[in-house]
Amino acid sequence: MKNILIICAMQEELDAVLDSFKKSYETIKIKNFTYYKFIHNKFIVYLVLSGIGKVNAALVTQFMVDRILPEYVFNIGVAGCLVDNLKFGDIVIASSLVQHDVNVAAFDLPLGQIPRMDVFDFKPNEYLLSIAAKIKQQIPNINIGRIVSGDQFIDDRATAEFLRTQFSALACEMEGAAIAHVCYFNDIPCLVIRSLSDLSGLENNANHSFLELKQMASDHAAKVAPILLAHL
Ligand code: ADE
Repeated sequence: MKNILIICAMQEELDAVLDSFKKSYETIKIKNFTYYKFIHNKFIVYLVLSGIGKVNAALVTQFMVDRILPEYVFNIGVAGCLVDNLKFGDIVIASSLVQHDVNVAAFDLPLGQIPRMDVFDFKPNEYLLSIAAKIKQQIPNINIGRIVSGDQFIDDRATAEFLRTQFSALACEMEGAAIAHVCYFNDIPCLVIRSLSDLSGLENNANHSFLELKQMASDHAAKVAPILLAHL
């Protein structure tokens, strides 16, 4: 059986994914890492909590990759919206991920470009992209586009508009690009699936909306997980 790794930054997101599979699971604790293991169809699913931010996400991804050598890595959770035509609860699957807080403009690099890396953005492979396209046909309100990640909760209109225009991004969050970066190094296909909990300050106060809607958005994103695995 093949191993699948699912990473969530927050407990609410992880609990929603666990609920979506309706399976009994084993809980494993090693050092400061806790992960959950269950069988689903032809896969052994490992679900792990990373904590918030790029460093937490990267270190947990590498720790789990070294332990279980997953066939695929998925990151599931919530995001802030950066565009006018999407609404709370809509889902964005990342066709491209960029770390928006990387700034080496002093050496004429575009914002987001990590120096001396051979890529600008991190992308799912063709196979996972084709599955994303199938899921889009099956579930309403799924969008495929760029997500940007950084160690910042985006809660003001100017920054949200800047991220949208600079990166042509649909959504922002704090882990996806870091997870995709680690997967790129390890040559493991990765897909990031997020549901919108707030408007990143484009209209109303993002942190109020985030606190109010993160459960709904976590549930929406989590519902994609079993459907995704059914396609693999
Ligand atoms: N995750 C959910 N909403 C977010 C926001 N506005 N900024 C960064 N990460 C988020």
